[in-house]
Amino acid sequence: MPHTFVIFGASGDLTHRKLVPALYQLHRKGRLPEQMRVVGFARSPFSHQQWRQGLAELAREFVGESFEQAVWDEFSQRLFYQAGDINNKADFDHLASFLKEVEREAQSTRVYYFATSPKFYETAVRHLGQAGLANETEGPRQVIVEKPFGTNLTSAQHLNAAITTVFEERQVYRIDHYLGKETVQNLLVLRFANTIFEPIWNRNYIDHVQITVAESVDVGSRAKYYDGSGVLRDMFQNHLLQLLMITAMEAPIKYEPDTIRNEKVKVLQAVRPLVGDAIREDTFRAQYRGYTSDEDVDSNSRTATFAAVKLWIDNWRWHGVPFYLRSGKAMSCRSSQIVIQFVAPPHMMFADGPQSATEANRLVIQVQPGEGIQLHFETKVPDAGMKLRQTDLDFDFCREFHSVMPGAYERLLLDALEGDASLFARADEVETAWRIIDPVLEYWRTRDQPSLFAYDTGQWGPMKSTAWMARQDRQWFDSCPVLY
Ligand code: BG6
Repeated sequence: MPHTFVIFGASGDLTHRKLVPALYQLHRKGRLPEQMRVVGFARSPFSHQQWRQGLAELAREFVGESFEQAVWDEFSQRLFYQAGDINNKADFDHLASFLKEVEREAQSTRVYYFATSPKFYETAVRHLGQAGLANETEGPRQVIVEKPFGTNLTSAQHLNAAITTVFEERQVYRIDHYLGKETVQNLLVLRFANTIFEPIWNRNYIDHVQITVAESVDVGSRAKYYDGSGVLRDMFQNHLLQLLMITAMEAPIKYEPDTIRNEKVKVLQAVRPLVGDAIREDTFRAQYRGYTSDEDVDSNSRTATFAAVKLWIDNWRWHGVPFYLRSGKAMSCRSSQIVIQFVAPPHMMFADGPQSATEANRLVIQVQPGEGIQLHFETKVPDAGMKLRQTDLDFDFCREFHSVMPGAYERLLLDALEGDASLFARADEVETAWRIIDPVLEYWRTRDQPSLFAYDTGQWGPMKSTAWMARQDRQWFDSCPVLY
């Protein structure tokens, strides 16, 4: 069946940086359906040709080395533009007529992508409904909604209700680009296509889990948005909790949207609610020095740019195993990784002191920019008596497959076109995630709020965060990836 991909917010940053480059790559690799076109919708009055030309310049920049003019020229024939204002219902009627014109076939799949500011989502949905654009008599209709999905539980529920008055849940694709990363999908493969990990993937063998998404960049040009959002809304409610779900879920019976999402949401439902003093003890927040000097940031801002949160999952598999989630801006390096820290051997036959093993096994799943997995284990140092040292088995995607890893949006856009929602969040998933984050946000606003520590840029967050872990007899695994 032919496909039409409609982008609302066609002149925005997301379209330029991610969507068009991803579609171009899919075209270049021959993955896009033959009859598939892209229709941009935004207020600027472009002709099709002007939009194509403008995008070509940006694509050259954001696609990088694999940009080829000849391929772009071919791809750009798929691009069309319709000027319109999301707030104006009549512009949706014009869009409907234009889509009929451009789709000459009787049936066509349509995907509507909301790449606009979230404040337009509800209006866009309503106008799509009123213009008959959600009607499926001429083919399937899907809507892709970008994050942030609400700013708290109430707003997320409100948005879900607004969307589902027009579209059915099966038509709604809530995107979290972390699920499009190859290394995150590989975690499903690592866990559920191998036998050796699952038997030890539980409280009997695992001491704790660390999920870190460290960024070296600061808030940059997004300071205004960020100051109203902070690290919990920006990274935890979505990306970090997604990583937590994939790490902790039970094995789904099939790779299908609902079997996967059922298992994922059970993890969030089992997360022990953070309340009162537990929040003081189990959460940690900080702000990098210099953040409030940004002209778009309130000079008294108490927005956290770094946070660490300890979560417990109250089920049989994870009882007693803390999950430490941590993320921050302006840190030492860009490094997203999941560390499975195994328990120490119950008895150490090697003597105490420098010759004994000091570190327990660890599995490090590198999400980005290092992309691979390392298993850390003790080994004997040759020709040195019984001296032990930790070493590792090291798997790296690029070294192994000699290929460039695709961008996260490539996989997700293709899945949405094919109607596969496995890697998209369901309404209950998003709402349950807010149920975990909301109490922390609220507590951090109270007079009793925990301290907001300061950290120098280019560090692993504040020293106090190291001390926070040390008080729990644990330490962060701070390591910048080695890139090949
Ligand atoms: C976005 C956040 O969702 O994810 C940004 O809004 C953050 O603040 C980005 O920088 C991180 O994505 P990635 O893929 O670069 O880790």
